Amino acid sequence: MARAKIALIGAGQIGGTLAHLAAMKELGDVVIFDIADGIPQGKALDIAEAGPAEGFDANMKGTVDYSDIAGADVCIVTAGVARKPGMSRDDLLGINLKVMKSVGEGIAKHAPDAFVICITNPLDAMVWALREFSGLPHNKVCGMAGVLDSARFRHFLSLEFNVSMRDVTAFVLGGHGDTMVPLERYSTVAGIPLPDLVEMGWTTQDKMDAIIQRTRDGGAEIVGLLKTGSAYYAPATSAIEMAEAYLKDQKRVLPCAAYVDGALGLDGFYVGAPTVIGAGGIERIVNIKLNKEEQAMFDKSVEAVKGLVAACKEIDPSLG
Ligand code: APR
Repeated sequence: MARAKIALIGAGQIGGTLAHLAAMKELGDVVIFDIADGIPQGKALDIAEAGPAEGFDANMKGTVDYSDIAGADVCIVTAGVARKPGMSRDDLLGINLKVMKSVGEGIAKHAPDAFVICITNPLDAMVWALREFSGLPHNKVCGMAGVLDSARFRHFLSLEFNVSMRDVTAFVLGGHGDTMVPLERYSTVAGIPLPDLVEMGWTTQDKMDAIIQRTRDGGAEIVGLLKTGSAYYAPATSAIEMAEAYLKDQKRVLPCAAYVDGALGLDGFYVGAPTVIGAGGIERIVNIKLNKEEQAMFDKSVEAVKGLVAACKEIDPSLG
């Protein structure tokens, strides 16, 4: 059987890390596309030269020609600009919207059957715009945010409880921004929900509140430390988890920015939700029950994303 083909649109910090991870995990052959001539070719060659020592055979190609992504099974989009200290993800909207237009058209022309995972920020609005510009089916276009936000939450919880990260599950829903909704009732240590762990005396509600805030600020914390760009190792790893779920038809239950139509009180809107990812792309939205307080937080987050989508429509009336 021919190897799967993975196209990475954007050869920056996340793009390079994606290529390295895809090769190490032998997910398929990799094409890295970027508009900055030399960068994708250089990164592809550098990673290919790691093959003999690591023992992978993936074919790595760097290119500035969209036709090289032809027939890709998966496209992961990181093209655009990343934020610097003091910037919010929303500040990137104007520049990255234009990038989504060219990327959407490139994918529609050369890889219309691909499963598309967007990482470019502001995430939820960019996924929506990329779907509009590409015209691909909604179930084949999604965004990576919930897996990363949940991973950050899981990491902080494992430090608090001094238990393995593998035994901590967490769900973060809503938009990938300050209004994201880490769900305490659906986050567990070995199946025990966080509110029960507070009752058991393993931690306090104040500590949980602080961890939730740190999760919401997780991206900004790293931008503040790096000063020259934003996080890339964990974002790339999270997107690879989603790509693998699609390529291997794993039916993973993963939170991601997906088109929610008829669940969670929404009719046709892109926002972070629990999904099932398999060979059909986003195969299902898990319509979990939210209590009043959770629903209010989720609604507030949806409103924030709606504001960004409205701003996109103002900048580019063709999205109207
Ligand atoms: N088409 C293809 N690539 C493009 C385009 C375009 N129209 N415009 C910019 N790029 C490329 C740049 O040349 C650069 O190599 O996108 C790459 C972005 O790389 P970085 O600046 O290193 O950004 P990175 O850290 O990878 O983050 C990318 O993901 O998490 C988000 O907020 C982050 O929006 C940012 C994106």
